[in-house]
Amino acid sequence: MKKDLISMEDLTLEKIKSYLSEAKKVEGTPLQDRVRLLPGKILAALFFEPSTRTRLSFEAAMHRLGGSVIGFAEQGATSVSKGESFTDTIHTVENYCDIMVIRHPGEGTARLAANESILPVINAGDGSNQHPTQTLLDLYTIEKYLGKITGIKIAFVGDLKYSRTVHSLINALMKFSVTDFTLVAPEALKLPKYFMRTDQPGKFKFKETESLEDAIPECDILYMTRIQRERFPDLVEYEKVKDSYILSADMLKQARPHLKVLHPLPRVNEIAYNVDKTDFAGYFPQARNGVIMRQAIILKHLGVTL
Ligand code: CP
Repeated sequence: MKKDLISMEDLTLEKIKSYLSEAKKVEGTPLQDRVRLLPGKILAALFFEPSTRTRLSFEAAMHRLGGSVIGFAEQGATSVSKGESFTDTIHTVENYCDIMVIRHPGEGTARLAANESILPVINAGDGSNQHPTQTLLDLYTIEKYLGKITGIKIAFVGDLKYSRTVHSLINALMKFSVTDFTLVAPEALKLPKYFMRTDQPGKFKFKETESLEDAIPECDILYMTRIQRERFPDLVEYEKVKDSYILSADMLKQARPHLKVLHPLPRVNEIAYNVDKTDFAGYFPQARNGVIMRQAIILKHLGVTL
């Protein structure tokens, strides 16, 4: 086991499957047994960018394993605001904990921290690059709902240019031999070509469309994303595309009965609230699976077996 979890690109299919089976074990272990696993261990949650789910589910995961948590939820509350460097922050915090979870707007910052530190570093999202813990919980959710990952048909909708959850998940699904991808995005937010593995011509099919209605009847998983205002260099461009897709319960009348709508969340208005009460809505159970998967990740990277 590598000490760090930085990018799905670093993981083999076998390694990914080992996280999924560890998560299953976590879910099957009574809480009273789990809370005995990490007494005295400390997780540092270093969040240089806003988060609700990732930070709080890591905190919940650590508490449910009997460990404790230190950290910060914004850079302004740290000595970085006085001019301290990122690497000095890492070298300081590593004296206070056993494992670090880092979210940062800069692409490559988690890898930098991992290279600098002797402790396990978990990437909780670096800019538009990668969000591997989200991907692992997405895979866990897909497998729970569909009973498989290989061979599924998935449509990604919204911000495919900047969404790190999309980039990480496509990368992982290719390792499971998922070959059919439907990409629903406005012209300005299309998936960059380098994610389409043009080095393996013919292996993967990417159907690009601007029509959400056309994609719905064809897929098993509809993976919605938020158009991320904070990633746009020019807010005029954001205004042009911000409401490109709004999924409603009515639109899902065309869906396969087993289809699940997933979303890493937060949503803004790309999924109407009337979808929440339908059997298609999978995004809140998906968020709940985050606590399970993050317990599995913490255990594996601290070398503790269930
Ligand atoms: N899915 C996700 O990363 O959500 P947060 O930004 O709230 O952590």
